Amino acid sequence: MQLILMGPPGAGKGTQAANLVKKFGIPHISTGDMFRAAVAEGTELGKQAKACMDAGKLVPDDVTIGIVRERLSKDDCKKGFILDGFPRTVEQADALNKILDELGLQLTRVLNIHVPAEDLIERAVGRRICKGCGATYHVKFNPTKVEGTCDNCGGELYQRKDDNEATMKNRLSVYEASTKPLIDYYSKAGLYTQIDGRQSIEKVTDDLSRVLSSVG
Ligand code: AP5
Ligand code: MG
Ligand code: ZN
Repeated sequence: MQLILMGPPGAGKGTQAANLVKKFGIPHISTGDMFRAAVAEGTELGKQAKACMDAGKLVPDDVTIGIVRERLSKDDCKKGFILDGFPRTVEQADALNKILDELGLQLTRVLNIHVPAEDLIERAVGRRICKGCGATYHVKFNPTKVEGTCDNCGGELYQRKDDNEATMKNRLSVYEASTKPLIDYYSKAGLYTQIDGRQSIEKVTDDLSRVLSSVG
């Protein structure tokens, strides 16, 4: 299964991808996670990405397309993958078609987690992530049993630098201008399915799984 998980910032792409990995055993490829890892390691890529991410802007297409091309060429992607946060522009979507052509692969489905703009800032500002295992929580919607401590591994929780109201407003306007046109792009390709992301985390996973069992 070659999947794209789409949705505005804070819609639940990462949360749902983690649940789908458990069910389907295919790799989760998040360009945001790859950029954050590069920033933490202080690599050249990290230096290029950091300023864009902190401002809530997109990392340039050529840089992003390059890292995705490299990642999709790895052996573990031969049995399928879940792309999260890529593509985000029409140029990236065109490049993905080319990469998949070269690899002899086809997209199975593009799933869009739909959440209205008014809910997204609260989701991002309340998000907490584990330093140890990367698990995602929310102070109100998905709290840990002990405040500040991961349920899975006991790790310490942190907040992403771009999860504040001002940066989130930029991220949402970038989404509207650059990424939303992909809904039309993949609808025309006959690949698009929208899921209601305002339900509980478990219910969204059920809806995604139901669609995937009918196409996979
Ligand atoms: P990226 O990391 O991809 O961020 P994003 O798209 O803004 O999405 P998020 O990770 O914020 O949200 P999510 O949908 O994963 O939600 P989550 O599951 O965590 O990108 C960051 C930056 O990197 C970009 O701004 C850009 O600079 C750069 N970048 C990345 N990809 C790029 C690309 N292709 N091109 C160029 N630049 C790129 O959930 C959010 C919160 O809500 C959590 O707290 C969670 O617990 C909670 N939650 C989840 N589901 C529910 C639910 N059903 N009900 C209630 N709460 C819920
Ligand atoms: Mg994410
Ligand atoms: Zn953890």
